[in-house]
Amino acid sequence: MLQKLEEVKKEFDSLLGSVKSMPEMAQFKADFLGKKGKLNALMGGMRELSVEDKKSFGARANLVKQDMLSAIDRQSQSLEMEVINAKLAANWQDISLTDKVKEKGQQAAGLHPLTKVTRELEDIFLSMGFDILDGPHIEDEYHNFEALNIPDSHPARDMQDTFWFKDKKHLLRTHTSNIQIRGMKQKKPPFKFVGPGKVFRCETLDASHEAAFHQLEGMMVGKDISVPHMIHFLRTLLSEIFKKEINVRLRPGFFPFVEPGFELDYECLLCGGKGCSVCKQVGWVEGLGCGMVHPKVLAGGGIDPNEWNGFAFGLGIDRLTMMRYHIDDVRHLHSGNLQFSEQFKAY
Ligand code: DAH
Repeated sequence: MLQKLEEVKKEFDSLLGSVKSMPEMAQFKADFLGKKGKLNALMGGMRELSVEDKKSFGARANLVKQDMLSAIDRQSQSLEMEVINAKLAANWQDISLTDKVKEKGQQAAGLHPLTKVTRELEDIFLSMGFDILDGPHIEDEYHNFEALNIPDSHPARDMQDTFWFKDKKHLLRTHTSNIQIRGMKQKKPPFKFVGPGKVFRCETLDASHEAAFHQLEGMMVGKDISVPHMIHFLRTLLSEIFKKEINVRLRPGFFPFVEPGFELDYECLLCGGKGCSVCKQVGWVEGLGCGMVHPKVLAGGGIDPNEWNGFAFGLGIDRLTMMRYHIDDVRHLHSGNLQFSEQFKAY
């Protein structure tokens, strides 16, 4: 009996290597270890053994069984890996699209400079613990104006030339400040979030104005937040993005959703402050609007202004990108000209 057991084990060992797929493996396992398998058939014969032999045969048979089970496990794992590797090899795509693509005379892909800057901004904010929110391009009057303390008759509505839909109730958002309203409803204070995105204005185009451009809205609400916090924070942010200490200046600015409100300018990096077409010869660039969130806006968002306060800002991503990559006309960014975009692949 013992000899037969060793023969079965030998047979098992010699055949295992030829099992090439998982269904084959299932059959193989059944042949040796199944109810009607070879091992069980031998066990059936144990009845005829003496008590002594039963013991030694039983012990050996158990060992053989364990050996077989772990060998099957190992082999199954490597078969599974082979299947996965074969799948990967069949679906392999070279997403870096380098030499192979060039051989075929095609161009390797790259990110648009606006995308790069937006992603960098997101990384900086994420590292500072901000959440990233989104908001709709097609917005209603309430979220784009009313909730931001810009009532119907308010002259501030004329500050931003709006693309209205025919129903006169919906519009293409004129700024990312709608994300403030949507964010406040979603979050419980304290919170801090940013929301990047496209905005639209019916404007005359020139080297620094486009009808569709990009902003990043930011909002931080907590206890005892003050203007110096805001200045420090925004300056740090600009220095991070330009990778050097950046000079900023603050001017009073009017935005109905903040009080006090400011315009923050930073030194023009294109001309180093000497004056050029982008900074309109003044050496400073209008970087962003900011201020302490108006109590009415907080209250409208369900936040008690007696308990909480904070700051908000809206930053122009296009101008930031122009400064970063020394681009002197915003219209290049949206031109769809590949020769333009390809210059930034390497950066
Ligand atoms: N929404 C303003 C604009 O598009 C920019 C802005 C100013 C956003 C002040 C703010 C802010 O959050 O506090 O001109």
